[in-house]
Amino acid sequence: TVSVLIAGILAYLLGSIPTSVWYGQAFFGIDVRNHGSGNAGATNTFRVLGKRAGTIVLLIDVLKGWIAANLALILFYLGEISMDERVPMKLAFGIIAVIGHLFPVFANFKGGKGVATLLGMVLSIHPEAAGACIAVFVLVMISSRYVSLSSILATLSFPLMMVFGLFGPESNLLIIFGFVLFALIVYTHHKNIGRLLRGEESRVPIGRRRSR
Ligand code: G3P
Repeated sequence: TVSVLIAGILAYLLGSIPTSVWYGQAFFGIDVRNHGSGNAGATNTFRVLGKRAGTIVLLIDVLKGWIAANLALILFYLGEISMDERVPMKLAFGIIAVIGHLFPVFANFKGGKGVATLLGMVLSIHPEAAGACIAVFVLVMISSRYVSLSSILATLSFPLMMVFGLFGPESNLLIIFGFVLFALIVYTHHKNIGRLLRGEESRVPIGRRRSR
């Protein structure tokens, strides 16, 4: 229906909001894509503009995915979609928002890697699993100090949790899309993976030391 189409477009526009780029330009007069890893994401904002900026960008990028997924709830309450269609619609709008984040219409289609926005979607669809993914992220982060590796393994943990039914039986849809989204995150991190394999990936600095 028309409202599903409108919600889809809204999800894309929402995902397209280039938080890190706009924040850097507005408050620091710089485009984070020209610094650090060159990525338009929360990690690179932390790296280039500091903790406060990074935290704000992270929260907004997560929120984008969460709001986009929840557009499905609005359609549900409007009676446009059925109960059974809620999760598939949340997935669809969430993925559209992630695509918007990767290819933002508002920033020459050069966006981020999609991790924060994807987390927002998972928070909306499966909060317990999202919490477990965050735990995986934190554990890998503490032991390796690589944000990229933490992102990749946290993303992989989602479909694995679904397969093993950590929170009870799950739909095949979540399992399949969990792996599809993992493949997408591997793709967006292909340069990071190359750097990790070569031992050249930048680690999160401890204290004031910078290890770049
Ligand atoms: O979410 C992006 C993160 O996993 C890696 O970012 O800037 O280190 O390439 P970056």
